Amino acid sequence: MGKITLTICLLAVSLLLLFAQKEGFAAPPVSYSRQILPVFKAQCLGCHSGATPVSGYSMETRDKLLAGGRRGAAVIPGKGALSNLIRYMTGDLQPKMPPSGAMDGDKIALIRRWIDEGAKVDSEKMPEGMNVTANKKGTSLLSLTSPHANLSAPVTALAYSPDGKMIAVGGYRVVRLIDSLTGTILQSVKGATDQVQCVAWSADGKFLAVAGGVPGAAGEVLIVDCETWKPLLKLEGHSEVVYAVAWKPDGKELATGSLDKTVNIWNAKTGKITRTLKDHAEGIMGVAYSPDGKLLATGSLDRSAKLFDTTSWKRIAALTAHQDGVTRVAFNKAGTILATSGLDRTVRIWLVKSGTFENPERTLYADDAINTCAFSPDSNLLVWGASNRIVKAFNGDGTQQKNELKDAEDCVYCLGIGSDNETVVAGTQDGKLLFWNLKQNKLIRTVSPK
Ligand code: HEC
Repeated sequence: MGKITLTICLLAVSLLLLFAQKEGFAAPPVSYSRQILPVFKAQCLGCHSGATPVSGYSMETRDKLLAGGRRGAAVIPGKGALSNLIRYMTGDLQPKMPPSGAMDGDKIALIRRWIDEGAKVDSEKMPEGMNVTANKKGTSLLSLTSPHANLSAPVTALAYSPDGKMIAVGGYRVVRLIDSLTGTILQSVKGATDQVQCVAWSADGKFLAVAGGVPGAAGEVLIVDCETWKPLLKLEGHSEVVYAVAWKPDGKELATGSLDKTVNIWNAKTGKITRTLKDHAEGIMGVAYSPDGKLLATGSLDRSAKLFDTTSWKRIAALTAHQDGVTRVAFNKAGTILATSGLDRTVRIWLVKSGTFENPERTLYADDAINTCAFSPDSNLLVWGASNRIVKAFNGDGTQQKNELKDAEDCVYCLGIGSDNETVVAGTQDGKLLFWNLKQNKLIRTVSPK
């Protein structure tokens, strides 16, 4: 074939292709049940399914697949490139998924196209006769980390009682009360519908709020009586899992933050909603009242933290320094400092009294997403815990690092500091509680509250 003929041929082919696309002869839409589900089955569902999916993320139904887990919305229909599901597979977000090894580029492109086309699900079942087995690498890892391998549920929530004697620890459908000195389990409170995402004691220690819910369906908060250890009230009204709950210091009111993007304010006696704040564009992961009860801080996956006046409920400030979702907000004891932790691997320190919130006073950097931060009761210490399993302790204004604790074997989700102001306890993805003494700078106890 001569050069010219070849050129003409190529031209003709490209014209045909162009025409075909214009006329809608482009490739047929991606089929979820035939092309996507088999990939998920082989490489993802081993961990992201069942009663206690890893990271709270189940990929079993379309709703759950979209909703995501701890890190918020996983799939934004029509926006493949922006969806966390894709960003985890390309390594843009860490740890890379699946953890056993890279997904091949063609498959990622296919899944991305499926999301671009609206993430439509033709059927949640594979066609009959189609079989998928997990690849070898996947399988070996699955048996290690899948909840089906009889592993404990992650510890996603913990809080010291106001007198420091007990720690409430949230697990799957249960809250355990643990003796803070010996680590023994004193009580198990049942009644939560699914994974417990946050626990909070009223200031007088008489009530415990237990937050959670069913992903994609409903959020709930149980108010537990700490004499009988029985639920007294159930706060219902959120349409998604409740990730954050806080008591107003006077005990009369609670604030809750949910993946449904709203903050609800509740009358603690009646369990009625007195106000709904719809000021965030994404799910809420943290709420905290200032010690004088005059301010409410909220932290959201929309990358911002906000401050509200608790009388007028007007927004006082939007704190927009974080480059990714905010995971926790915490006031120090004097109410002078607000600390916010984020998926952007930072903790930001804000001076509340200054009244200006354009820039944080200080930024602390980590090597991975920071899931939680907390002040010691005397507020001379600020600790944070990250997905890379590291816990660090700073002095109360974040100017000086005190400890770097590396004993956790999985993601650190929640933290607390005892009334001695030197015992730190962390809850991890692999279902453990780790206790450190900061003065001795060492691990003193590990508890698996099964
Ligand atoms: C061996 C277990 C395992 C397998 C298999 C696995 N993941 Fe994960 N996945 C995890 C863990 C652990 C996390 C939590 C990571 C973190 O937050 O640090 C996670 C988190 C995620 C998240 C964030 C969810 C959230 O919490 O919001 C997404 C999205 C995700 N995985 C997608 C996938 C996809 C897609 C696949 C298959 C290609 C996959 N994963 C396979 C263990 C697994």
